[in-house]
Amino acid sequence: MQTHKHKAAKIVVVGSVNMDLLFKTPRMPAPGETLMGQSFHQIHGGKGANQAVAAARLGGEVSLIACVGQDDFGRSSVAALQADGIDTQLVRQVSNCATGVAGILLDDSGENSIVLAAGANAEVQSTDIDAGKTIMSGAQFLVCQLETPMASVAYAIQQAKTLGLQVILNPAPMQDIATDLLNQVDFLVLNETETQQMTGMSVENAESAVAAAQVLRQRGVGTVIVTLGAAGVVVVTAEGSMTMPAYKVEVLDTTAAGDTFVGALAVALGEGEGLQKACDFAQRAAAIAVTQLGAQTSIPHRSLVESHFH
Ligand code: ADP
Ligand code: NA
Repeated sequence: MQTHKHKAAKIVVVGSVNMDLLFKTPRMPAPGETLMGQSFHQIHGGKGANQAVAAARLGGEVSLIACVGQDDFGRSSVAALQADGIDTQLVRQVSNCATGVAGILLDDSGENSIVLAAGANAEVQSTDIDAGKTIMSGAQFLVCQLETPMASVAYAIQQAKTLGLQVILNPAPMQDIATDLLNQVDFLVLNETETQQMTGMSVENAESAVAAAQVLRQRGVGTVIVTLGAAGVVVVTAEGSMTMPAYKVEVLDTTAAGDTFVGALAVALGEGEGLQKACDFAQRAAAIAVTQLGAQTSIPHRSLVESHFH
């Protein structure tokens, strides 16, 4: 994929905005234990914001529908989104409400433990979606996750389909999804844990991922993409399945790998790329993200993706 060859992809993201409070720690503390950490980092995150940032840095024209609190975290999150060129006129500041926060412990083995406080993310309502209808009608893709209320995500997807958009759903964190909602999803992008949770099937390798993805397709999803971390992705469509290995990199922190993949996928598909090329672009971008610490600090710009992995 070359820059400037195509018209920019027009993408609307509905989703969460969090401030990530990241502690590097030698190991996970036991219950009741106080442990000295090695360092602390305050990093912009939230799956919705991360996916919007990925799409914007990778060349998309992006609007975000979200809620933040009227606090310093909210103001700084909006400023960061704007600095990435994201349209934030539909990011609503909710009074008497905290911005979403993620407390993250990352230990020396690369393992992480996370506590989320949804805060303003729980306030995203159908009226927020209605406010975005004009912007949606000019867009190609709606991108959603499940850190905002299911009812609002369902409403957004329904509106998007009425307006002729294609829908990418990243069902994380996993919740039960109604069949009539799955029927409206063009691209379901989920990791192995979410795939296991949604199907009750064990997903250990590409073969079992394809089998589970086929079950999800039978529930009405157009294309299912299961991301398998360092093992790459499997893609299952009506035509069949393909397995693509990941790019080999030195892993520092896998935070936002999946979010980078989703944002990149939307950009490439929106530029008219085929599914295989779009997944390749998304895997390149996601592989770079795992070499850097944190969420939005690790999401690469397009120029870096294009100059990497020859
Ligand atoms: P999530 O972050 O949602 O759990 P994954 O861990 O499956 O998602 O990662 C999403 C994608 O990011 C993978 O399909 C792959 O392309 C890339 N990726 C993740 N981990 C690695 C890794 N260790 N090496 C190379 N690429 C990776
Ligand atoms: Na990262």
